[in-house]
Amino acid sequence: MKITVVGAGAVGATVADNIARKELCEELVLLDIKEGVAEGKALDMTQTAALLGFDTKIIGSTNDYGKTAGSSVVVITSGLPRKPGMTREELIGVNANIVKGVAQNILQHSPDAIIIIVSNPMDTMTYLALQATGLPKNRIIGMGGILDSARFKCYLSMTLNCSPNDLNAVVIGGHGDTTMIPLIRYATWNSVPVTEFLSEEQQQKIVSDTMVGGATLTKLIGTSAWYAPGAAVMALVESIVRDEKRLYSCSVSVEGEYGQNDICLGVPVVIGKNGWEKIVDYKLNEQEQATFNKSADAVRNMNNVLQTL
Ligand SMILES: NC(=O)c1ccc[n+]([C@@H]2O[C@H](COP(=O)([O-])OP(=O)(O)OC[C@H]3O[C@@H](n4cnc5c(N)ncnc54)[C@H](O)[C@@H]3O)[C@@H](O)[C@H]2O)c1
Repeated sequence: MKITVVGAGAVGATVADNIARKELCEELVLLDIKEGVAEGKALDMTQTAALLGFDTKIIGSTNDYGKTAGSSVVVITSGLPRKPGMTREELIGVNANIVKGVAQNILQHSPDAIIIIVSNPMDTMTYLALQATGLPKNRIIGMGGILDSARFKCYLSMTLNCSPNDLNAVVIGGHGDTTMIPLIRYATWNSVPVTEFLSEEQQQKIVSDTMVGGATLTKLIGTSAWYAPGAAVMALVESIVRDEKRLYSCSVSVEGEYGQNDICLGVPVVIGKNGWEKIVDYKLNEQEQATFNKSADAVRNMNNVLQTL
């Protein structure tokens, strides 16, 4: 099993670190366009092996896609992150070219790979990767909803004063400050709806804190976050390589599901060795469906920008 992570920046390096520690593959390739950075970080991580007790072989590469050949899973994190005050959508001009080029290079050397898109604006980059590679839809997965759901659970656990591991909570829709939809009605604390324990005001605050979860961190750190994004990608990769069939919210190409077509958007999907294997239909109520449709409209507008680049 070989896995490649493209982009050895904050998120890419954290993804690689998590994958190596968990020994999700025998060989891990970290690739970046900046001379020496991927090699340096790969060597630094390799030197943790004797301390952390893993045997994953980590290889760094400066833009040499030959080294990525035969990867089963490829994670694309290359591209600009946002600065405080920026939206994810503002990154489209630069990141579209990067993601398109990277996806095509990857395909040449790893024609059977499952590709995970992390670069923002993620839903549009996932849509672009699908178009640019022509791969079967099940092999292109956008990572956003897993992270947003983890943030949702974090804010729920802080308010309920409970373990996030006892919570079930999912965020669907676009991966944007205004487009994501934390489904509070479906969130449970060990099977009991959280709405039974929270006031209307508390629920609204948790939902809005979740939606700006990334922006809050960007404001504090000065760039976008990497620990939770890195862990979220690792969880997704783990479900693929171990064929776990975990149910995660991911951005995938919908064809009529949730009332949408010709778009990649966050919906609950079963993740296994074939990529995303099945979309699970949460019966949205009228208001949730209307919010989902609005989210899809915003993502579609962003996808239309691709035509102008
Ligand atoms: N989907 C999510 O939930 C999520 C979460 C966090 C960050 N992000 C996004 O992930 C991306 C990376 O964030 P980061 O904080 O790691 O940024 P970063 O600047 O730390 O790292 C990006 C890396 O990409 C590299 N790169 C640029 N062009 C490249 C190319 N053509 N080929 C190979 N490498 C190239 C850069 O040299 C840099 O090392 C950003 O677009 C960010 O917005 C997404």
